[in-house]
Amino acid sequence: MLTSRKGPAFETTGADGEQISDVRNDAETCSRCDLYKDATHLVFGEGPERARILFVGEQPGDKEDLAGKPFVGPAGKLLDRCLDEAGIDRDLCYVTNAVKHFKFAARGKRRIHAKPNAGEVQACAWWLAAELRLVKPKLAVALGATALYSLLGRQAKVTRDRGTVLHSPDGLPVLVTIHPSALLRTMDQPDAEMNRARFVEDLRKIADFVE
Ligand code: URA
Repeated sequence: MLTSRKGPAFETTGADGEQISDVRNDAETCSRCDLYKDATHLVFGEGPERARILFVGEQPGDKEDLAGKPFVGPAGKLLDRCLDEAGIDRDLCYVTNAVKHFKFAARGKRRIHAKPNAGEVQACAWWLAAELRLVKPKLAVALGATALYSLLGRQAKVTRDRGTVLHSPDGLPVLVTIHPSALLRTMDQPDAEMNRARFVEDLRKIADFVE
């Protein structure tokens, strides 16, 4: 198990003195797309400054929207368990999303996840680019298709590239894997255990990028 390196989040400084805490504050009033209108909180990334590993999910879910924190709901708990099995400490990692506001459809009192469209992902890529610029990870982990699209555009495909490390145009290694919510959706299927084991295998590849 990699040991935890707890430190102040949001204290990373860029070359021109840019701080991730300032970027986060700016994001709070983001209206680059319409998703801010119905969301409770903007959910910015969290994690130690200069984390070597940066996870990118799709967008906050219901629980994350209420808490204002990424990956604290069922998918986040499953991710934590799988990271644990893979020997990776989440506290060492910076965890964020391609889209920072929860997109949903109201069904009575329930809020059902709705997939962000390409325009919303592109609008929010501004914030992800700032996180990448300031955290300067050694590896980004794309959890699912939306994260992969935001990081690498349309040429990469989860089904084809899963388990491999691709590179962004500026040379950042990107590990391609599925979103943990895909495992939650298929938990009652006969191959559920195999799918989970494969996800853990993907996550084990992170160890090559940690000191
Ligand atoms: N799914 C995501 O992609 N991100 C979260 O923060 C929670 C669920």
